Amino acid sequence: MTHKPVRKAVFPVAGLGTRFLPATKAIPKEMLPIVDSPLIQYAVDEAREAGIEQMIFVTGRGKSVIEDHFDIAFELEHTMTARGKDVSVLAKTRLSPGNCVYVRQQEPLGLGHAIWCARDIIGDEPFAIFLPDEFMHGSPGCMKQMVDAYHQIGGNVISVLEVPRNAVSSYGVIAPGAGNGVVTEVLGLVEKPKVEDAPSNLIVSGRYILQPEVMRILEGQEKGAGGEIQLTDAMAQMIGQQPFNAVTFNGNRYDCGSKVGYIEANLALALQRPDMAEQIRAIALNLLK
Ligand code: UTP
Repeated sequence: MTHKPVRKAVFPVAGLGTRFLPATKAIPKEMLPIVDSPLIQYAVDEAREAGIEQMIFVTGRGKSVIEDHFDIAFELEHTMTARGKDVSVLAKTRLSPGNCVYVRQQEPLGLGHAIWCARDIIGDEPFAIFLPDEFMHGSPGCMKQMVDAYHQIGGNVISVLEVPRNAVSSYGVIAPGAGNGVVTEVLGLVEKPKVEDAPSNLIVSGRYILQPEVMRILEGQEKGAGGEIQLTDAMAQMIGQQPFNAVTFNGNRYDCGSKVGYIEANLALALQRPDMAEQIRAIALNLLK
């Protein structure tokens, strides 16, 4: 059976980023760099690798630098070229007008609400969601791994990761059904369970492929935890109505919405970069002495 391709991705970037203040007072957290590229760039690269064509950014006030980042920087490129400097480093930052759309979430009413803001652009197609502050590092990328599974199974596909059992309480956890390789059927979703109540040690990470019906659920949804419209609540309602599976990500996740996760991601990536790994290793060893 063929399944409708995943051509569109939503990047909700309208959150307040309060865990990273004061850095995120004037800079969106999605623009914080890992080594030398902002988080949002890694997410867009991951989407492109997975064959996604249209990038939909749900933005809010103070987020216009994200639009600038994916635009042509005429003065910069012109001046660099005139001075004989290489501008190829900027190639991946250009999104042509046909490939990106910006939608405004006027109030940060929650992730579910942010996704719902993109409903008209999504229309009647399956779509991907990327939470750019969850930096998923792997090869192939997380969304490519998910899309490959989606081609086989269709329906809704979320990404999960195994964590030590005693760490589950900080995350959304799946109640697993039958498993087949990296794919596990999802029977339920539990937000931040106690260790003893957790139905598994598979945590939901920030990548989703959802069917468009989720928009209709979000439409009528009441506020949930934290007074926000929660995506998890809407997904929970889809389970049982439509196929719902999880793909265990083969790679590393860094929670870059938190300071510690962000520093870990920078260190991990720097230690893999051929242009700096040796220097960073020496610096780290020296600091640890
Ligand atoms: P988070 O809860 O991690 O983001 O939301 P936050 O609210 O910006 O961060 P803290 O907790 O205050 O530090 C997950 C994703 O959903 C987006 C965020 O931008 C982030 O990518 N989001 C969240 C929205 O776009 N709108 C919202 O109303 C809430």
